[in-house]
Amino acid sequence: MKNIIFVCTGNTCRSPMAEAIAKSLCKSKDISISSRGIFVYKNLDINENAKKVLLDNNINISNHISKPINISELENADLILTMEKEHKNILLKLAQTNNLSNKNKIFTLYEYVLNKDINVEDPFGNDINTYSKCFEEIYNLISKINFNNILEEKIIGIGCDHGGFNLKNEIIKYLTENNIPFKDYGTYSKDAVDYPVYGKKVAEDVANGTLDKGILICGTGIGISITANKVKGVRAALCHDVFSAKATREHNNANILAMGERVIGYGLALEIVKAFLETPFSNDERHIRRINMIEE
Ligand code: RB5
Repeated sequence: MKNIIFVCTGNTCRSPMAEAIAKSLCKSKDISISSRGIFVYKNLDINENAKKVLLDNNINISNHISKPINISELENADLILTMEKEHKNILLKLAQTNNLSNKNKIFTLYEYVLNKDINVEDPFGNDINTYSKCFEEIYNLISKINFNNILEEKIIGIGCDHGGFNLKNEIIKYLTENNIPFKDYGTYSKDAVDYPVYGKKVAEDVANGTLDKGILICGTGIGISITANKVKGVRAALCHDVFSAKATREHNNANILAMGERVIGYGLALEIVKAFLETPFSNDERHIRRINMIEE
């Protein structure tokens, strides 16, 4: 069961509307959807205007009572979507204070769906037209969420040419021993092949969301990383030290690690793989801005 929580300030307007909309659009029984507030002083019903707009759109929200988000909900959520950046920052701080590792599962709704730095503004205190506009805004965003992607267990894709074949096998051993799900994209022998073929296959599956991350190896790591970086949405980092592997996850949200079998030993390569797979993206605003610039 996957757990999605929508979060706004008081859990009476935007987040319960988002919850009701998501429940009406998500067909999967394996996803639980709820909503919570950051500052909830007393238990309140959903706002009358929010309820009316939902009902006008044939979406029912029964027995909603506002609730504040608690630490265990924060910890157990698979995805938390906030209405404003401020909500996200508060939750990130809360996660950090409580040593929770889910800080890369907290996004604003706009950021998650459109990669945009925009808030869903609070309609509270305004007339029904403002609520209608807010409903439409949230509906348009949530209708773009692919709920099946949330359900899928993301895996690591690994590919190489003949120059990276031995190191690929060492990494596969490491992934297997550590129960990390992976898909091997070849090559499957030491016969000479062309690295762009393997770089492209893994990069495309990272870009289209089939893979969470990729690992690519050739003799130097150079040709295969150049190839991968031609695919839009891919940020392949050629790393031959642990510091770079960690930094490229934190700063560049790199989604492919490239290495050269003829450059480093297996022991160091495995430490690099570990650092790359275990380091979350910092979610820092300035890094998000720069990554968006790369995409543009
Ligand atoms: C193959 O000999 C070699 O060129 C390739 O593995 C890689 O190093 C390319 O950048």
